[in-house]
Amino acid sequence: MKDIILTGDRPTGNLHIGHYVGSVRTRLAIQEKGGYDKFYIMIADTQALTDNAKNVDKVTNNVIQVVIDYLSAGIDPEKTCIFIQSQVPELFEITSYFMNLVTVARLKRNPTVKSEIAMRGFENTLPVGFFCYPISQAADILAFNANIIPVGGDQMPMVEQTREIASSFNSTYGEVFTLPKGVLPEIKACERLPGTDGKLKMSKSVGNCIYLKDSPEEIKKKIMGAYTDPDHIKVSDPGKIQGNVVFTYLDAFCTDEHFKKYLPEYNNLEELKNHYKKGGLGDVKVKLFLNNVLQEILTPIREKRAFFEQNVDKIYEMLFKNSEIASKEARKTLEKMKEKMALNYKTISKK
Ligand code: TRP
Repeated sequence: MKDIILTGDRPTGNLHIGHYVGSVRTRLAIQEKGGYDKFYIMIADTQALTDNAKNVDKVTNNVIQVVIDYLSAGIDPEKTCIFIQSQVPELFEITSYFMNLVTVARLKRNPTVKSEIAMRGFENTLPVGFFCYPISQAADILAFNANIIPVGGDQMPMVEQTREIASSFNSTYGEVFTLPKGVLPEIKACERLPGTDGKLKMSKSVGNCIYLKDSPEEIKKKIMGAYTDPDHIKVSDPGKIQGNVVFTYLDAFCTDEHFKKYLPEYNNLEELKNHYKKGGLGDVKVKLFLNNVLQEILTPIREKRAFFEQNVDKIYEMLFKNSEIASKEARKTLEKMKEKMALNYKTISKK
């Protein structure tokens, strides 16, 4: 069986370098490798609304922004079906049936939901829709019978819960679903890139992100201000790599080629790290190197963005067309589910 791949993002802001190494780069690799049956990328606007009910504009305006970020980064709509969640109504019908197969206790145990509730201060104001979004995410995945789900580390519990829902459906009503598998980025540093301030996560609200669309000046300014080792005061002091954002970004982005080009005194990142740990290497030098690396990666993306920004109408057309394709696919799954659940009254009454 050929792979059906599905992944998605909530459209709440432009994509940053954390998204790039955590998911976009994996998607590009899948796309280039080819050989799959289908590859869907879903813009999860409905999911984004579960904690933005009063900020609909923020979500809807960012749909096109996120899609432009994808296209600029090299996602090719000829090879990948990019669609909008809210435009595929079958997903909500599927969600309804799945809701009966999940307990409140199980949802409460989902570690990602747990930490998101705490982060948003939702203890007493938790919207039901937000609490249930893992179930709707299971519908996103299972509607297309996707078997490969490329995600960042924080999404693994969602894939796990999806597998449980799939098995529960299969054993309750009959086999419809294959169990999907989550696939993490190969480099550990890429699972969750920290913010430029050293905080665990890049987040728009904290203001610690480097965006794909940032200007060269913004990128440089953010790198020069990034958190390193607070005890590394003099150049001669030994420095720490652990928790040092500049080195984490280098782990995620730099190759030996970059050293040849921009810092030929070192052969690779290992040598640079060793020098830093020993003492005698200043932060500015490392930051300027990181700046060169990131500028090289982000410049072509930013340049392509300028082109796509001029073609917004065409991009929407592509999205609507793909959402219809996705809707047809999801309908097939829904029909199969209803047949197993004996909800196919029309077919039965004709017999
Ligand atoms: N929860 C994902 C995020 O926050 C977005 C998402 C929605 C998703 N549905 C999905 C990811 C299905 C993978 C598969 O980024």
